[in-house]
Amino acid sequence: MRHATAKFYDRAPAVVESFEQAVISGLSASPKSIPCRYLYDAAGSTLFDKICELPEYYPTRTETRILDDNAAEIAALIGPRAQIVELGSGSSDKIRVLLELLVSPKTYVPIDISAEHLQSAAETVARAHPSIPVAAVCADYTSNFDLPQVLEDGYDKRVAFFPGSTIGNMTNSEAVAFLERVRHLCGPRSDLLIGADLQKEPSLLNAAYNDSQGITAEFTLNVLHRINRELDGDIDVSRFVHDAGYVPERGRMEIFLRSEVDQLIHAAGRGFRVRSGERIHIEYSYKYTIDGFRDLVASAGYTPVHYWVDAQQLFSVHYLRVAA
Ligand code: AVI
Repeated sequence: MRHATAKFYDRAPAVVESFEQAVISGLSASPKSIPCRYLYDAAGSTLFDKICELPEYYPTRTETRILDDNAAEIAALIGPRAQIVELGSGSSDKIRVLLELLVSPKTYVPIDISAEHLQSAAETVARAHPSIPVAAVCADYTSNFDLPQVLEDGYDKRVAFFPGSTIGNMTNSEAVAFLERVRHLCGPRSDLLIGADLQKEPSLLNAAYNDSQGITAEFTLNVLHRINRELDGDIDVSRFVHDAGYVPERGRMEIFLRSEVDQLIHAAGRGFRVRSGERIHIEYSYKYTIDGFRDLVASAGYTPVHYWVDAQQLFSVHYLRVAA
């Protein structure tokens, strides 16, 4: 039987925390912050795609290379008749080589909050792999939801796929809570294939988040343009600068927008005072050691099965199993 059309299931949350609430509470707080998920409006997503192509931003191409180089071994660990559940699947680029090599895969389940993008990516995968049923689920993978009942049977093993080291944008306690949710979502006999960026020479990390073309700066500053566009803001974005640095003792990139002057900004009908030199926290990007990452996943109930790194040990991909 051929399945050239993707099925689509809507599990999007009815009430989403609003950008307006997040901005009001984040800019009223001390220190100020804006959650990094708001970086990804249409303009931010386009800028992030550009970041992934930058010479300094090694994670995307390094992870893709690790997945491609080791696809046969990964496919063998997954085994036949698997259901692959990709969290935050975007354009479903990284799964494609693996789908070619899997033996009789039962279903590919891309999950993403952006319905339009999800639907078109799912159709593209379905056309490229007509023998693999594709069941796209529109959902916020960072919150609780259930997979459609129809996807609960008919596979030998379920494997969650979470590439990109997106886990690194969560604090360790958020990461553990997230992994526990993935474990509950996918069930007690599931595996997890996940990308994790590695600790390395700070100059390489600082270059990756302060690229010479200024695209990463545009990406983070875009959240201020977004406030102006969506919340009737009056922020003079040229009075802020992108401020990103690696903090070795915390094992993470810390990314802020720093005000160059004392200023009063307005958004959502409120005023917010910002001092010269004051920073708005935008994002963390954690970098791991192999052992540190294995300890993290163990606290969420996963056991390491295998991992792969590139020749320069920049990035790692881990195959994990729910602990017995
Ligand atoms: C999506 N995430 C894994 C990226 C990272 O590297 O932490 C987001 C990013 N922020 C600035 N550059 C890339």
